[in-house]
Amino acid sequence: MTILVTGGAGFIGSNFVLDWLAQSDEKVVNLDVLSYAGNLENLASLQGDARHVFVQGDICDRTLVDRLLAEHQPRALVHFAAESHVDRSISGPGAFMRTNIEGTYSLLEASRQYWSGLSDEAKAAFRFHHVSTDEVYGSLAPHDPAFAETKTYEPNSPYSASKAASDHLVRAWHHTYGLPVLTTNCSNNYGPYHFPEKLIPLMIVNALAGKPLPVYGDGQQIRDWLYVTDHASAIRAVLDGGRVGETYNIGGWNEMANIDIVKTVCALLDELRPDPAGPYSRLITYVKDRPGHDRRYAIDARKVERELGWRPAETFASGIRKTVQWYLDHPDWVARVQSGAYRDWVSQQYGA
Ligand code: NAD
Ligand code: TYD
Repeated sequence: MTILVTGGAGFIGSNFVLDWLAQSDEKVVNLDVLSYAGNLENLASLQGDARHVFVQGDICDRTLVDRLLAEHQPRALVHFAAESHVDRSISGPGAFMRTNIEGTYSLLEASRQYWSGLSDEAKAAFRFHHVSTDEVYGSLAPHDPAFAETKTYEPNSPYSASKAASDHLVRAWHHTYGLPVLTTNCSNNYGPYHFPEKLIPLMIVNALAGKPLPVYGDGQQIRDWLYVTDHASAIRAVLDGGRVGETYNIGGWNEMANIDIVKTVCALLDELRPDPAGPYSRLITYVKDRPGHDRRYAIDARKVERELGWRPAETFASGIRKTVQWYLDHPDWVARVQSGAYRDWVSQQYGA
C-alpha cells in the first residue's frame, strides 16, 4: 500500500514522513515544490530507501497530480503543502491564495476523479486527510474556552483566511461529492527542522549568533504548543480511526505567552551553551507588533482523546529541551537554511 503526501519536505511534512517510515513499511510518495520552506536535507536519512519516492512539483499542477494518483494508486492523500508563515502572508498574500486555496482545490478535484474510478472496496477505504490549523478559529479573550471543533471560523490573517477557505472546500467536497475526507486543526508545532523564521527556531538561532531576540508587541500573546512528532502521531491516529467527514482538533494543552517561551529558550541555552557575554535574555528586544496579531489560541483536544485515545508523548519541558539540543547539534543545517533568500526575508521583516 502507498500514501501520497504533499509538502513532505517542509517542517511538519518531513517529520511526518520520517516518523511514518520509522513505524511502517508502507510507501510514501512525497510531492513538494521545494519552496523556500522545503528542504530535502530534512529527508537525507531516506536517501536510497525505496519506500520513499520524492517528486518535485506543484500541487496546482493537475496533470502531475493526476499522473501520480494513477501511477501509485495511493489509499490516502495527506495534504501538508501550504504557505505557512503569517508574517509573509501579511507582506505578500498572493502565494497563500494560490497554494492554500487553489492548490487544495486542485488536489480535491484530482482526488475526486481518481476516487470515483476505484473499486467499491478501495473507494470505501480511501481518505483525503487535510492538515489545517487552529488559526482558522480566530483569537480568544483571556477567559474564553479553548477552541472546540464547533467553534465558528473567524480567521484574521491572510494565512488563516486562506486555510479557512481550504477547510471549507474540503468540507464541501465531502458533503457534495461524498469524497471521504478528514480534517485536523492543530495548534502551533515546534521541534527539529523548523524553519528559523518562526518564533522558537528564530530565537534559538539568533541567541546563538548574539543577535537581538525580537518579541512582537508586549509578548503576552498566547499560543498552545505541540511537539511536532505528537502532531504526526495524531494524524496517524485520525487517518486510522477518524470518522469520515469529521474534524479533529489537535493540541497539547500547553498555553504559553510568547515572552515565557523566549525566556525558556534562553534559560536552556544558558544551561547547555553558556555565553561568556552573559545570560541570553539580555538579547530580548521588544519590537513593533504584527498587524492584526491574534491574542490567544488554545485547543480543546478532548474529541481526539475520547474517540481515538490519542495523547501527546512529550511535555513542553521535554519537547523544548530536545528541540534546543537538536539546533545545537545541527549547526550545518542551520547555516545552510540561513543562506541566500533567508537573509532577504530577515532584513525585510526586521530591518538592519
Ligand atoms: P512549511 O512552510 O514548513 O512547509 C510547507 C511545505 O509545502 C514546504 O516543503 C513547501 O516546499 C511545500 N509547498 C509550498 N507550496 C507548495 C506547492 N504549491 N506545491 C507543493 N508543495 C508546496 O509548513 P509546515 O509548518 O510544515 O506546515 C505544514 C502544514 O501544517 C500546513 O498546511 C500548515 O498550514 C499546517 N499547520 C502548521 C502548523 C505549524 O505550527 N507550523 C500548525 C498547524 C497546522
Ligand atoms: P509564529 O511562529 O510566526 O507562529 P504563528 O504566528 O503562526 O502563531 O509566531 C508565534 C508567536 O510569536 C506569534 O504570536 C508571533 C510571535 N513572534 C514574535 O514575537 N517575534 C517573532 O520574531 C516571530 C517570528 C513571532
